[in-house]
Amino acid sequence: MEKEINYRLVTELIFEKLLRNHERYKNKYPHISNLMSEGGRLDYEPMDNNLWTSSFFPGEMLLAYSLTGAKEFIADKKSYLDSFEKRLNEHIGISHDLGFLYSLTCVALYKLTEDKRAKEIAAKAADELYHRFNRKGNYIQAWGKMNAGDPYVLIIADTMLNLPLLYQSEDPKHAEAAMLHACTASRTIVRKDFSSFHTYLMDPMSGSAIEGRTHQGFRDSSTWARGQAWIVYGYALSYSYTKDKEFLNIACKAADYFLERLPKDKVAYWDLSFNDMVPDIRDSSAAAIFACGLLELSVLLDNHIKIKKYIKTAKEIVGSLYENYFNHDMNSPVVLTNGMYHRELGSVGTSWGDYFFLEALARLLDNHVRFW
Ligand code: GLY
Repeated sequence: MEKEINYRLVTELIFEKLLRNHERYKNKYPHISNLMSEGGRLDYEPMDNNLWTSSFFPGEMLLAYSLTGAKEFIADKKSYLDSFEKRLNEHIGISHDLGFLYSLTCVALYKLTEDKRAKEIAAKAADELYHRFNRKGNYIQAWGKMNAGDPYVLIIADTMLNLPLLYQSEDPKHAEAAMLHACTASRTIVRKDFSSFHTYLMDPMSGSAIEGRTHQGFRDSSTWARGQAWIVYGYALSYSYTKDKEFLNIACKAADYFLERLPKDKVAYWDLSFNDMVPDIRDSSAAAIFACGLLELSVLLDNHIKIKKYIKTAKEIVGSLYENYFNHDMNSPVVLTNGMYHRELGSVGTSWGDYFFLEALARLLDNHVRFW
């Protein structure tokens, strides 16, 4: 990248998209761009609050509020609280993803407005997430019902971004569970060379680890790009809460593994087995998450060479995302093209890629508000 893009200008384009679309997402939430409108526009179908992705549009609105102070970005506060409280009370789509869901809504609203109701709902969500903790194996079960008699259950890389809901809870046993999960994942999901499995099979009765697998990656033994990005950012966040140097070491080594496999345009292919010689589709969302991880590391480290390298790469990624993968159709809510959810769905826009792109831009504009 020859010169830096104008970060403020890009955030203003995103704000315009958010405001043009927010009426459509009143009590509804974007997921992935699986709809093409009649004009061939990339679009997010407004969905009910029942997926792991329901918090990313509210999260973008709240980031926009923290960057601008403009009231229209927080106008739906009550509807967010009502909807996310109902989801918790009615037990809709409950999994380890409670962290994604409640960090970017109730935790964010509490941080921005000190709203007591937001704090109470976040505390309840943290407790619900804690109930997924298996004390024998010291891990948080990703999916499925607890104590259902399954011969094995899964832990997954993505959980690393769900831990901050527990770290930020006032109940110390929640933070302890988060720290223990990060330790277990460091011996299972994270491989010796600091690449990662997407998932790991665990025996819920004995708590013992069985073997590594994948769910969204190319193969069990490969490294799914988004999973590696969850590891980098997740261990950086775990370090920020625990000050355990091993977590910082994992985040840096996993970041270096990712960095060494970036293609020429710095936006990763969906699995790190692919490269410019053997290309496949990209995952702009993995790139955006990775950039946030690098920028988080840059404020945690005291090694100036590493800090410089991580900031430079994050800027190159964000620059390339804008130059090559920004959706300039201002009537479309989709910000980034070329994301990946499940490979068989092809190249899509992703609500989470849009959120992490805005978070990376906010960080580059020196706004270090962190909902995680
Ligand atoms: N957390 C689900 C995903 O990254 O696709």
